[in-house]
Amino acid sequence: MPARELSALRPRPRVLSGMRPTGALHLGHYHGALKNWVRLQDEYDCFYFVADWHALTTHYQDREVIERNVYDMVIDWLAAGLDPERSTIFIQSRLPEHAELFTLLAMGTPLGWLERVPTYKDQIEKLKDRDLATYGFLGYPLLQAADILIYKAAFVPVGEDQSSHVELTREVARRFNHLYGRGADFDARAAAAQAKLGKDDSRYFERQRKAFGETGAAEALAKGEAMVHKAAALLSPEETELLLGHLRGAGRTVLPEPLALHTDVAKLPGLDGAKMSKSYGNSIAMRDEPAVVTQKLKRMPTDPQRVRRTDPGDPTRCPVWQFHQVYSDAATQDWVVQGCTSAGIGCLDCKQPVIDAILAEQAPWRERAETFLANPKQVQWIVEMGTERARTVARQTMKDVREAMGLNY
Ligand code: TRP
Ligand code: SF4
Repeated sequence: MPARELSALRPRPRVLSGMRPTGALHLGHYHGALKNWVRLQDEYDCFYFVADWHALTTHYQDREVIERNVYDMVIDWLAAGLDPERSTIFIQSRLPEHAELFTLLAMGTPLGWLERVPTYKDQIEKLKDRDLATYGFLGYPLLQAADILIYKAAFVPVGEDQSSHVELTREVARRFNHLYGRGADFDARAAAAQAKLGKDDSRYFERQRKAFGETGAAEALAKGEAMVHKAAALLSPEETELLLGHLRGAGRTVLPEPLALHTDVAKLPGLDGAKMSKSYGNSIAMRDEPAVVTQKLKRMPTDPQRVRRTDPGDPTRCPVWQFHQVYSDAATQDWVVQGCTSAGIGCLDCKQPVIDAILAEQAPWRERAETFLANPKQVQWIVEMGTERARTVARQTMKDVREAMGLNY
C-alpha cells in the first residue's frame, strides 16, 4: 500500500482543548488559540469543547452569561473554520463522565498540588470583585485534568498561562497509573503474557527487565521493548501493553500523560496595547460589523509622544505597530517605520492597511456565521454529533478507570 494511504489508516494522535463561554470571541482569542485549533485539524484527531463548567468556577453567579454564550461561541468556532467533519465539537456539561473522573481523581490528589498551581493565587488576587474562595475554584485544574485524561489526549494546545494545568494533569495521570495500573492480578497476567513469548524469549525479557530495574540502563529497556514488539504477533494488544509496562516496572498505563502544545502564536494586544479582553473595553469581536471595526481602529491610541501630524513618532511606543506585526507584510512594515519616524505619514494613513486586513480576515467569518445563525438547528446538530462521538470515547475510558480501581462490581 502506498505510504500515503497507510498514513491515512494510522490513527492520528488526539488533540484536546477547551474554551470558556464567557463572551463573544475577539481577535485575541482568534490569534492566540482558535487559528491554531483550525490548523491542527489537518494533522490530529481534534476534540474541542465548550468548557461551561469551567466558566461556572468563576461565573457561578451569572447564569445568563454562560447560557447566552455557549452556542454563540460554537458559531464563532465554525465561522473561524473548525470543520465538524474533522473535529469533534461538544459541550462539557453534556458529558457527566467528566464529573465522574474528576471525583475519582480527587480522592488521591493532595491538596497541596492544587494550592500550588500558580494561577490559583494569581486569579484570586486579580479577580477581587468575585468570591473565589470556593471548592470549585480550587478544584478546577483537576477538572481540567479529567477533561484531558478522559479522552487520552496526546497533546493539549494551550497558552503559556495554562502550562501548569497540563503539568498537574501529567502528575495526576502518573499517580493514577502508579496506584491502579497494576490491578489486583497484574503480576499473574504479566506472567501469563510473558509465558506466551516462549522459553528463550521469556528468559531474555526477564534479563532485560531485571537489568533495567536494577541499573536503569536505557539499553536494556530498548532491547526488551524491541523484543516485545517483535513478538507482537503472539500477543494481544493488551498483553503487549502489559509487558511493556512490566518491563518499565510501571504497570499498565491506564491514563496516558499528555503534552502541552505551545505553537508560536502571534500576540495580538488590545486596542490600548494591554491584553485584549472584553472586560477592558479594548477588544474587537470576531464578528464586529465593519463600521464598528473601522471606528474602533480610527479611535485607537497611537504613540503618545506624536502629538501633531508633523511630529515624528516611534512605532515601538505604538499599539498600532503591534497590529502591523500581526497583519502586515514586510514591505508595509517598512513603510510604517519609515513614514512614522520621518513624519511622512499620518496615523490615520498608517492604520488603513490594518483596517483593510482585519476586514478581509473577518469577511469569510461573517459569511459562514450568517449561514449558521440562520440555521440554529444545524449548529445544535453539529454539537449533538460531537457530543455523542465524545461520549463513546469517554465511556470507554471510564470503563477502564472503574476496572483499574476495582469499581466494576
Ligand atoms: N481552563 C481552560 C481555560 O480557562 C479551559 C479548559 C478547560 C481547557 N478544560 C480544558 C483547556 C482542557 C485545555 C484542555 O482557558
Ligand atoms: Fe503609530 Fe503608525 Fe502613528 Fe507611528 S504612524 S504613531 S506607528 S499609528
